[in-house]
Amino acid sequence: MNPPLTAFLGPEEPVRIGSDAHKALFCRTLLDTFDAYKPAVIDWPKLDSAALERLTSLPIWDIAVQTEGRARLNVEAYAATSTDALLRKAIELNAFEEGRHKLVLSNLVTAYGIALAPEPQYVVQGDPEWAFMVTGYSECIDSFFAFGLFETAKRSGFFPQALVDTFEPVIQEEARHILFFINWAAWHRRNMPLWRRPFFELKVLAVWLFLIWERIGIARDMGSGVQDNNFTVTGAKSLGDDIDAAQLIDFCLVENERRMSLYDHRLLRPFAVPALARLARRFMRPKKTVTGQSAA
Ligand SMILES: [Fe+2]
Ligand SMILES: [Fe+2]
Repeated sequence: MNPPLTAFLGPEEPVRIGSDAHKALFCRTLLDTFDAYKPAVIDWPKLDSAALERLTSLPIWDIAVQTEGRARLNVEAYAATSTDALLRKAIELNAFEEGRHKLVLSNLVTAYGIALAPEPQYVVQGDPEWAFMVTGYSECIDSFFAFGLFETAKRSGFFPQALVDTFEPVIQEEARHILFFINWAAWHRRNMPLWRRPFFELKVLAVWLFLIWERIGIARDMGSGVQDNNFTVTGAKSLGDDIDAAQLIDFCLVENERRMSLYDHRLLRPFAVPALARLARRFMRPKKTVTGQSAA
């Protein structure tokens, strides 16, 4: 049993990014907010035929299961390289949760009779640090949009409430993961030898370019009948014509803020994706305005 965080860090004590206190705060935030749900005992709600049809025809299940499978492996590979006990424990928990997401999705697929394409052989993507960063930054993009899509599906009744409730812990877990990842990246770059930093920044840039390339390449393949990584485009299209891009971004921003507000204010928040979304949003006109936050 770990001593409570407050045993060595006061609730208002300032925390310098890159310090040991910072590391303790972002690791303990992930560890202490662990939700011990068990995928095997999830009682999948009965759906009426229309809801079942909507769910099974969403073209995201193959890629969602595969993304979680790859994420577990990537995160686990980096955990194995960590010599810091607390950091390692937190990254291992992150990997465990990715594996659990895959299990939840696999059980959902079985429960609702969704046919999956055969899974590929998962391999760690590049060196462990690269693999962790690919998963981390890719979650920063996908989770931001997943927050908005989830809220849209919830408000529109696309998913019945019982299914929304079942999925809520998975979505919030991704919020915890990106919060953890962003703080790890900031802590990591401040704790590496100075000579390594330019290489690390190049690596960060290369990861972003890789993720953008992956998404553009995938968008080009749309319509080929192959499921793709572009959750936002595919997901938004599936949610119907009622949603426009501006409204979706508004939901993403509101939900991102709400989900991140649950954690210690001294931790860094994901910045790049919300900032880009805010910038893009300036040039869009919504059909409807997003008002109020989710009641959940
Ligand atoms: Fe996940
Ligand atoms: Fe995750």
